[in-house]
This record gives sequence, structure tokens and C-alpha cells, in this order.
Amino acid sequence: MKNKKAIHEKLEKIIFDKEKTYLSTSETLNTKKIILHEEVFSSNFLPDNIFHRDKEIEELTDHFIPTRHQKYCTDLSIYGVTGSGKTLITKLVFKTLSKGIDDTNYIYIPCNEYNTPSSIFKFILQKINVESKGRSESDYIQQIKNHIENKLLVLILDEIDIFLKKEKSYENLIQILSDWNKCVLIFISNDPGWHEYIKDHRTISRLHLSNLIFKPYDTDEIFDIIEDRASLGLKQGIISEDLLLEIAEFTAQYNGDARVAIKLLSQAASYAENEGCEKINLIALDKAINSLEEDNKINFIESLPPQHKLILVSVYMANHSFKKPDFDTIYNEYEKLLIGSNLWRKLSKNTIRIYLDELETYRLIEKEIGKGRGRGKGRESTRVFLTFDKQKFKEKIICKMIRNDIKPLLPRATTSSNSMPKTPPLSSYQKL
Ligand SMILES: Nc1ncnc2c1ncn2[C@@H]1O[C@H](COP(=O)(O)OP(=O)(O)OP(=O)(O)O)[C@@H](O)[C@H]1O
Ligand SMILES: [Mg+2]
Repeated sequence: MKNKKAIHEKLEKIIFDKEKTYLSTSETLNTKKIILHEEVFSSNFLPDNIFHRDKEIEELTDHFIPTRHQKYCTDLSIYGVTGSGKTLITKLVFKTLSKGIDDTNYIYIPCNEYNTPSSIFKFILQKINVESKGRSESDYIQQIKNHIENKLLVLILDEIDIFLKKEKSYENLIQILSDWNKCVLIFISNDPGWHEYIKDHRTISRLHLSNLIFKPYDTDEIFDIIEDRASLGLKQGIISEDLLLEIAEFTAQYNGDARVAIKLLSQAASYAENEGCEKINLIALDKAINSLEEDNKINFIESLPPQHKLILVSVYMANHSFKKPDFDTIYNEYEKLLIGSNLWRKLSKNTIRIYLDELETYRLIEKEIGKGRGRGKGRESTRVFLTFDKQKFKEKIICKMIRNDIKPLLPRATTSSNSMPKTPPLSSYQKL
């Protein structure tokens, strides 16, 4: 009994001391904090202040006012470069247009998330509060049709190009929706030619498309957007106007994407915070810009064909044992990745050399030519090294390849049509 009490007291004392240390450290950390509201930098954040899109807001409202009275209007195609405010403005306009209206259903559909016809139909049913019955697309379609008999349906299909690109037959969804005279369609894309993915000309001619273009933002416009974000998310006075202007100028020259400017601002702030700086400075901004360029390289790598990615993985693996591996070490790693998978075709040394040259022209690898002449003794071998952020490569490319892309990693040597290709051995990746 006596012992029990002693433990209890001891525990209370430990908790008391630990809590004291925790509170004092979090207090000092808080005083050094630069980012006060992380969420204002996230892509889902809907700001109260919208800048330089009055014309687009007017045009959208003008076009869709009739829908508040269940009157049909023409379909609309909205396009513009990435980060030009298409999603933000459209969401806000329709949120406001739908206020107090019961007989028109306004439904925003992010097609990168709902990316099959049946998931889109189910999402529509969920939004109009109808429990989906049955299993087939035609069941869902019938349920939606029954519901909208005396109503109007306004569907905003964001990132429509991603959806249409996914499978040829998906264009049937557009055909079905465009056939309903109780349905108005809005398509959003950063590809002005998104409708070229629709091969059936009858579908195109059924759409009555008007266009609305969102231009990229210029320096002054980006400045206003990020000045507002800085005041919402950062400690006051932590960033100078000059530095905001620097970010705005860089982004306007880069691509006019407000998302990039917001990301640069938040990354520069977090670098400055980690370094314990009083203010965000040029060094922190430079770091943020470098990191952005690294992200671009990784995105580019993501778009490369599977064999090219696998060669980069081989260089990465060889890099574990040698800082600057030579060709034979890289090829050795490449062969190891394929051990146990007799269904995958191994490329010859010569082909790998050609691919490495190509990767060099993309500036993804660099070569250090060995000293000496000829091919024999005394000639040092050429070394190869990666020129991008290896941590990001591991997180974004290799991990994804392990999770999803293993199957199509390599073309099959045999061409039997209906059996699935064998997965290369996961053990190959385990030392990463
Ligand atoms: N006019 C604006 N005022 C305030 N913030 C803006 C404005 N335009 C864009 N933003 C901000 O920039 C980011 C990107 O905007 P949005 O998602 O609307 O771009 P988008 O044109 O839809 O890009 P994508 O083609 O990549 O989908 C968001 O965080 C948004 O809040
Ligand atoms: Mg968008």
C-alpha cells in the first residue's frame, strides 16, 4: 500500500516537471514562429479577398443568372494556365449563385478525384440527396433523371481533360449529359484543346459552348494576392514589400501561377523560421526557389517512360555504394533490379548508354569523363551522378513506383495478350 502511494506521488512529480518544460519550450518556440496560420497557404483555402478577377466574376454571373430561375443557358468552357484562379472563382461564384435556390442544383465535381463515369453519377446522386440504388450506370442515370424532372442541374466539371484522357469511352458521359435539356455544363481545364479528346463529333455539336479565358497574373496582380496571404498567415512585419515584389516578379516571369507565388512565400517563411531568423530574407527566398526547381525536375521525371525512370533508380542505387558510380556499377544495379523477373526484358548495355546520354541532355544526370586516352589500362572510367534532389526522388518517384507502377515498369519480352506481367521483385528495392 505504502509502495503504491510512493509511485503515485513519483508519477505526479514527473508529469509536473515534464509539463513545465513542455510549456516553457512551446512558449519560446511560439515567440519565434513566423507562420501563424498554415492553412491559408493550402490549396483548399478559400480566401475572402479575391483580386483582379472582377471581369471574370461579372461574366460568369451574367451567364448563369438565368439558371437561378431554372432557365437553360449555354454550356461554358473555362480555360487558362494553372494557378490563374479558375477553380477558386468558379467555386465562389456558384456558391453565391446557389444561395436561396432550391430548384436548381449546382454541383461542383473535381474530376481528378471523381474520375470514372459511375463515381461521377454516384457523386451527383449524393449531392442531390438521393440514395443511389442499383449497380449499373444506367440505374444511376435513371435516378438522376427522375429527380431533375422539374428542376435544373448545373454541373461544373473541373479538370475535365484529366477525366477524358483516362479512357476513350469516358466521352460517353459528356454525350449523356449533353443530351439532357435539364442540364447545363461547365468545363474547366488548363488545356484549351480539352474537347479534342472527344472523338465523336455528334457529342461536340450537341454541346453549345461559350468560352471564358483566365489570363496568367502579372507582377502587380500577384503582389496583391501574396501581400494578402502574408497578412493572413504570417506574423506581422515579417516580410518586406521588396521581398514580396521579388516573389511576384519571379512568378510573373515564370508562369503567372498564383499557387507558385503562395508556395514560394510559405516555403521562404518556413526556411526562415527553421533558421531562427527575425525576418524572411533573400537567402530563404533563394532556397524556396531552388526547391521549386527541384520539384519541377521531379515532375518531369514522373512524366518519363518507365525504362528511363528505372535507369535513374539504378544510378540512385549505385550511388549508395559509390558517390560517383561508373557505368558498369550502374548496369550491375540495373540487372539486380530485374533479378527473378524473367518476364521483363533486360535492355542491352548499349541501349542503356544511349538512354543515359538522353538523360544527360535533360540535365538529370551529369558525367565526369575519366582521364586518360583510349580504352585500355590507364584510362579512368566515366562517372555518372544525379543532379536532382535524391530525397525527393525517393519519396515521390521510387516510393510511387513501388506502390503502383511496378507492373508497367518494364515492357514484357513475351506478348501473350491476357496474362498480367509479373511484378519485379520487391526485394530489389529494399535497401533504399
Ligand atoms: N484572384 C485571386 N485572389 C486571391 N487568391 C487567388 C486568386 N487567384 C488564385 N488565387 C489562389 O491561387 C491558388 C490557385 O488558384 P486556383 O486553384 O483557382 O487555380 P486554377 O486556375 O484552378 O489552377 P489549376 O489549373 O492548376 O487547377 C489558390 O490557392 C487560390 O486561392
Ligand atoms: Mg483548378
